[in-house]
Amino acid sequence: MSLLITINGWDAAPWAAMFQRLAPGLPVHMALDARNRDAIRYAAVWKPKPGLLAQLPNLAVIFNLGAGVDAILADETIPADIPIVRGVEADLTARMVEWVALHVLFHHRQMPQYMAQQSKALWRPIFQPAASEVSVGIMGLGALGSACAESLKRLGFRVCGWSRTHKALEGVASYAGENGLDAFLGQTDILVCLLPLTAETTSILNRSLFRKLHRDGPLGGPIVINAGRGRQQIERDLIDSLNDGTLKGASLDVFEEEPLPPDSPLWHHPRVFITPHVAADSTPAAICEHIVQQIARLEAGQPIGPLVDRQRGY
Ligand SMILES: NC(=O)c1ccc[n+]([C@@H]2O[C@H](COP(=O)([O-])OP(=O)(O)OC[C@H]3O[C@@H](n4cnc5c(N)ncnc54)[C@H](OP(=O)(O)O)[C@@H]3O)[C@@H](O)[C@H]2O)c1
Repeated sequence: MSLLITINGWDAAPWAAMFQRLAPGLPVHMALDARNRDAIRYAAVWKPKPGLLAQLPNLAVIFNLGAGVDAILADETIPADIPIVRGVEADLTARMVEWVALHVLFHHRQMPQYMAQQSKALWRPIFQPAASEVSVGIMGLGALGSACAESLKRLGFRVCGWSRTHKALEGVASYAGENGLDAFLGQTDILVCLLPLTAETTSILNRSLFRKLHRDGPLGGPIVINAGRGRQQIERDLIDSLNDGTLKGASLDVFEEEPLPPDSPLWHHPRVFITPHVAADSTPAAICEHIVQQIARLEAGQPIGPLVDRQRGY
């Protein structure tokens, strides 16, 4: 019984070292070959090569090293009965809360305008509304969205959330499904997207949605913050909406194409703030510990998680 690590886009060595440290009795393979194929029971993966996991006859569980499983679900060769566990735990959640709070506060406290003024040595105070006058709307009230909602509420913001099903989070107005979307958008001054990428959420951040955000809000225009997935936003629509005043600003961690191409106009837009898909990094110490715990639970006949629902797509 052994574990295969297959990672694309990150250095796999620290992950292997961490598994060896936390579970010294668990053989770890960095590549699939004819000798280890039958022994592999667990796979720890990030963006696995399509078709690879289907070659493992005794695979019992797939552990995704990040929270978003869109890359795995795109591989239709993976047998439907193999459970997929997502890599979301306290450390990754805390990182996302930091990134979202940073960018909400950045726009709320008018830092884009103060940075522009600083570049011209201008000392010009701008009226500052209270957090309690500003409504932050979170699309996706799952593990990450609900933790962000709690922390933004503690900072004093009005918080509402939109999800597929209704949520009961104290002090957070809940809107659900297609029918709840317009009412949610109509009261949102700062929109935070923490949705998974599915057929329903692809291109959801488009011009028609931006037009439904709260106008006449205390910040002088709606803000969009996306740390979900890049294919949820239409970048041409974002730029057009910023240029015609439909949007006041945007903070983006994810992009239609990553790395963001050097000729993307987003790089140089004065009201767009970019980070290179780092809002909530997966770190080997935290995620490997979670996986080792789940393996122990599985072997003791206990339930494991958080599990992906393949029908829902997240
Ligand atoms: N930028 C980064 O560094 C980074 C890091 C980690 C994760 N992420 C992204 O963050 C996403 C969210 O992670 P999570 O752990 O919070 O996911 P999660 O726990 O699965 O929550 C997803 C939320 O989205 C809602 N949702 C899904 N489809 C919807 C739809 N069609 N309409 C309305 N709501 C919908 C779900 O509604 P229900 O609750 O009703 O099911 C749920 O509230 C990941 O999938 C990943 O793409 C980004």
